[in-house]
Amino acid sequence: MTHRRSLALAAAAAPATLAACEGRQSVLDPAGPQALRLFNLGNVLYVTAAVVFVVVLAALALALMHGRRRDGPDTGQAGERKARRAVAWAVGVTLAILLGFLVVSYLTDRAYAIAPAAGRPLRISVVGHQWWWEVQYTDSVSSRSLGTANEIHVPVGRTVVLKMTSRDVIHSFWVPNLAGKKDLVPGYTTTTWLRADRAGVYRGQCAEFCGYQHALMGLLVIAEPPAQFARWYEAQLADAMPPADTVASTGKNVFLGAHGCVLCHTVRGTGAGGTVGPDLTHVASRHTLAAATIPNTRGWLGGWVMDPQGIKPGAKMPPNDMRPDELQALLTYLQTLR
Ligand code: CUA
Repeated sequence: MTHRRSLALAAAAAPATLAACEGRQSVLDPAGPQALRLFNLGNVLYVTAAVVFVVVLAALALALMHGRRRDGPDTGQAGERKARRAVAWAVGVTLAILLGFLVVSYLTDRAYAIAPAAGRPLRISVVGHQWWWEVQYTDSVSSRSLGTANEIHVPVGRTVVLKMTSRDVIHSFWVPNLAGKKDLVPGYTTTTWLRADRAGVYRGQCAEFCGYQHALMGLLVIAEPPAQFARWYEAQLADAMPPADTVASTGKNVFLGAHGCVLCHTVRGTGAGGTVGPDLTHVASRHTLAAATIPNTRGWLGGWVMDPQGIKPGAKMPPNDMRPDELQALLTYLQTLR
């Protein structure tokens, strides 16, 4: 089967709506304390700027109307004094506003940096790659640590401390509904924190130009009630499900075989231990593929396996020229990895 044909099949099997676009991504809808601080700071700036704009336009209109009356009471030396006083007032008010901005911005910045001391934070490390996000949940008990990609589940109401670095170039982690941007710098670890106070799916985006597919380096933060998060965590800790039938078993052999999937991907519980690409142990449990670029459906998955370059040119994943039966078996296997 040619790539073009497999892509056509993928498109035919795909749902009409692009699930990858799901998830809110807006600074105007804060869902946590960090985003709320930035939202409030923004409001102070926008409202002040709007008032200044209106006042300046009103002053301009007044001046234009006034300037026409050359023989009025404000001409000559008296008029000049009046104008000087007005300019001095305007400069004073401008300085006061700028000073006010400085103070509000400083206070926001300080409050933003300090994570709440109460409660045990959830620790997650995020590694930026061209063009996807590696996510590691680190637990003091190493057998309870786990890896995933492009989707970060967090429990509502709990502080999450994110330690971040990059494997290649500078990226920037930005989930507007939850927090401001934080750079991921190669060879250096940065730290930030966030908390989701409202359950929901929040879309994030790399916010630092990092190459060809910078625009398609998305992620989802899925905030859920603590009990639901705990269930997700336990499920993710488990090794991959062994194939339940012969088709899935054939698919597993395709995955472990000559096409070289294992050189880049890990599926815990099998021989696949590659670390170049995303961990696929529970790939079927994710909402999206290719860093929140396409929905995680059989059709799109097939298109992605066969021709990733057609969907995300420049991505590190090479095209795979598989026989149709190999591809179908592989898709069946990958879809069992819940
Ligand atoms: Cu990563 Cu832009």
